[in-house]
Amino acid sequence: MNTQTPFDLAAVEAIIAQRKATPGALLPILHDIQGVVGYIPPSIVPAIAEGLNISRAEVHGVITYYHFFRQHPVGEHVVQICRAEACQARGCESLADHAKELLGCDFHGTTDDNKFTLQTVYCLGQCASGPAIQIDDDLYARVSKEKFNSLIQAKRGVQ
Ligand code: FES
Repeated sequence: MNTQTPFDLAAVEAIIAQRKATPGALLPILHDIQGVVGYIPPSIVPAIAEGLNISRAEVHGVITYYHFFRQHPVGEHVVQICRAEACQARGCESLADHAKELLGCDFHGTTDDNKFTLQTVYCLGQCASGPAIQIDDDLYARVSKEKFNSLIQAKRGVQ
């Protein structure tokens, strides 16, 4: 996985400068950086730590504690499949196997065309309507294999 993807360093530094004086600024800074860059580049951790006057270990600890934060570049679309208990009871593992086969990558992997990154998530708040998935910011419930295929085709621009 390429961890050397170029990113807009000036934009990231601006986020740190803008928010660093705010109490509890670390999480908002990390959210903003991931929003702009798509992930938290490991190379920016020292600048965050210095800006907030905390240790690099503290910054790293927060990044790794919250699964939401990514440390590697992702594809154009992030596909998250819920694999928590209620969705397991509704067949999410079969859907997960199907997704891996369709996309040709495993969890935490990205398709060869860099279009999709496949991830696991544990509960999307749709427990009564599983299997649930999220593609980018959009939630989908009762996702069959056919529905999954349609969603992926739509993201690929195939009708
Ligand atoms: S268990 Fe899947 S949405 Fe809650």
